Amino acid sequence: MKTNSHELVASVRSAVDPFLAMDVMVAAQARSAEGKQVLHMEVGEPGHQAPLIVREAAKAAIDHDRISYTPALGLLSLRERISAHYQETYGAVVPHERIAITTGSSAGFILSFLSAFDTGARVGLAAPGYPAYRNVLKALGLIAVSIPVKAENRYVITADDLQAVHDKTPLDGILIASPANPSGTMLLPDAFAQLITCCAQNHIRFISDEIYHGIVYEGAARTALSHTDQSIIINSFSKYYCMTGWRIGWMVLPEDLVRPVERLAQSLYISAPYISQIAAAKAFDASAELNAICQQYAANRRKLLKALPEIGFEGLHPADGAFYIYANAGRFTNDALSFSKSLLDNTGVAATPGVDFDPDQGQTMMRFSFAGDEVTIDKAIDAMARWLG
Ligand SMILES: Cc1ncc(COP(=O)(O)O)c(C=O)c1O
Repeated sequence: MKTNSHELVASVRSAVDPFLAMDVMVAAQARSAEGKQVLHMEVGEPGHQAPLIVREAAKAAIDHDRISYTPALGLLSLRERISAHYQETYGAVVPHERIAITTGSSAGFILSFLSAFDTGARVGLAAPGYPAYRNVLKALGLIAVSIPVKAENRYVITADDLQAVHDKTPLDGILIASPANPSGTMLLPDAFAQLITCCAQNHIRFISDEIYHGIVYEGAARTALSHTDQSIIINSFSKYYCMTGWRIGWMVLPEDLVRPVERLAQSLYISAPYISQIAAAKAFDASAELNAICQQYAANRRKLLKALPEIGFEGLHPADGAFYIYANAGRFTNDALSFSKSLLDNTGVAATPGVDFDPDQGQTMMRFSFAGDEVTIDKAIDAMARWLG
């Protein structure tokens, strides 16, 4: 029988929202191609390339190794190095057997959701929050439950918020990032402990996205491992280690999920890229280079925290870590998407509309990434002050 091509349609599960930060990046690149200035503050991507020893290790692997598959959970050498990192950085004992290497933290989300939850499970997310969480949950047939965060709680989910949502309709899991994207806010130690206790009491799976650890300006980032060995930790070499394009990250799993994740990874990915695994193991020895880059972020952050309110952006969220400022542009717009387009057209500043992170409350919000160089930040501040001042 002949099939009418009009009957072939994309799946309902693929109808996830676009990732607007990436759409803004494409628009910014088109503007660049026309020879116009672009000041990139849209994507959360370090301006620096991976540390020198990382790149050298990759070159040596290409010359001397057979670039092969690895075990699905990753090369033993990298898993052992990450285990040592937990001891060195947090004083936490994490056996390498509980560590799984992933193709960036993005693969970690898929593996954690598939291994921990069945179709229809309800997973709580902070609003605002990283958009891929809800898109991946939706594509996998899970329900993203938005939990609005409040200024008086430093824009983090509290145990009380969680309990209230759970009492209404039970949750199966919660996913937290601290430092968070887009707000940069961190859970204070007590709030972190209370949230984890609340999860344990209510049998809610706790997933901790720790991708911005290492990039912290106020306080210290805590790993959920300091509180419990039952949570799923997701981490990556993309941010602090400046390795976005290497697509490499890791998870720390509770023992019962190690084999399920291994089975899923075998079929979904076979393994993370060999070269990236070899190179990533060296990233832990590049602290001096990486901390100097963080100093640059800190200088950018200081400038923006001063300049953005002077320009007219209000209600800046406390950017404790990561490299973002989430600011209220309500004086200029109640349509953040159009505002981001006008901002790009009129000033060359590419920034991300808040609706990406919070479809309900993000209409007046903008996220500025300050992971680029100082010159970009200076020029962006000048251009915005001229246009909006
Ligand atoms: C909070 C958060 N988690 C995960 C990711 C994805 O990172 P990866 O490159 O490790 O897939 C990002 C990227 O911006 C992020 O902001």
